Amino acid sequence: MKVIAVVNQKGGCGKTTTSINLASSLSLKGQKVLLIDCDPQSHATMGLKIDADFETNMYHVMTTREDEQADINEITVHIKDNFHLAPSGIILSGIEQELAEVEGRENRLMQAVRALKQPYDYVIIDCPPSIGHLCFNALRACSEVIIPIDMSLFSLRGVTKLLEIIILFKSELGHSIKTRALITMYDFRTRYSRQVLEKVREVFGDNVFETVIRYNIRLRETVDYGLPVGDYDKYSIGHKDYEKLAEEITAPEFAYIHTGNPKGQNVGDILKRTETYIDTVGKSSIPQMPESEPEDFFSCPVESSYSGMIEAITNDPHGSAAQNDDSADDPL
Ligand SMILES: Nc1ncnc2c1ncn2[C@@H]1O[C@H](COP(=O)(O)OP(=O)(O)O)[C@@H](O)[C@H]1O
Ligand SMILES: [Mg+2]
Repeated sequence: MKVIAVVNQKGGCGKTTTSINLASSLSLKGQKVLLIDCDPQSHATMGLKIDADFETNMYHVMTTREDEQADINEITVHIKDNFHLAPSGIILSGIEQELAEVEGRENRLMQAVRALKQPYDYVIIDCPPSIGHLCFNALRACSEVIIPIDMSLFSLRGVTKLLEIIILFKSELGHSIKTRALITMYDFRTRYSRQVLEKVREVFGDNVFETVIRYNIRLRETVDYGLPVGDYDKYSIGHKDYEKLAEEITAPEFAYIHTGNPKGQNVGDILKRTETYIDTVGKSSIPQMPESEPEDFFSCPVESSYSGMIEAITNDPHGSAAQNDDSADDPL
């Protein structure tokens, strides 16, 4: 089972669209998929025509209140063949505060994923547009991250922070997360899009999906119909692109071996330390937004370079994570 989190703290960059349509495309390829909606805004849940006020949802899976708790296996909803959804609800927004002082707060989603009884091939987690306990739980539970980057510089800006956190996960917890960027809403016709794409490929190197998700109006329309794009228009560009992404993800050359986490690491206060870290280092490492050209953006002084970050997060099966054989702490 592969657990993939779709993360970027910028809203509107294509996280939910990617989560729904990747999950659907994987399921059409015969893979058993669970999509976990981890966003209190419940867009994935609503985008699949599921009542967002479902009586039990991911809040009940993650809460520490015993009288409210539910088993993840009991809340999953059948969407179509090979495709299940663990729905969200607005009540999930309360979890950020609820978990604030709870011991092991970053492990709750990982524990839920481990408790899954169905033999899923893929678990896709749609994250909220913020870095908090929900996002941390998703990072802790996953072995891979997809970072959707729409063709805006704001999207790239948020990526810096996220990469810093992923590096911390590796250095502090030995939890390696394979991280790849996904270009979304790409418009071949504009010179600006082409420039940004070129730069993203330059700085992310192999850590960018070959597949580019093009701008496609069908992807926008499908939300209103409560359908993955392939079930609405299987000849659409949007469906073709997400089919290609599913192929890239399932291709054997990208098979990823999760090497386990080291023993004895103190995971209790990683969130706090990361927040402090972001406050001190993170802020200074985020380039200021230039007025217009991407060239200016990339030439801004950046304390921690993208390539350095990429090097640090690239999986090395012989690296720190592999030296510690703690399969008990391995979610997979
Ligand atoms: N490739 C695309 N082409 C056209 N519209 C898109 C595309 N991807 C996403 N959208 C639209 O952009 C908006 C934001 O996308 P969404 O997936 O909800 O972003 P996020 O989950 O990151 O906030 C939605 O209206 C969605 O339908
Ligand atoms: Mg979303």
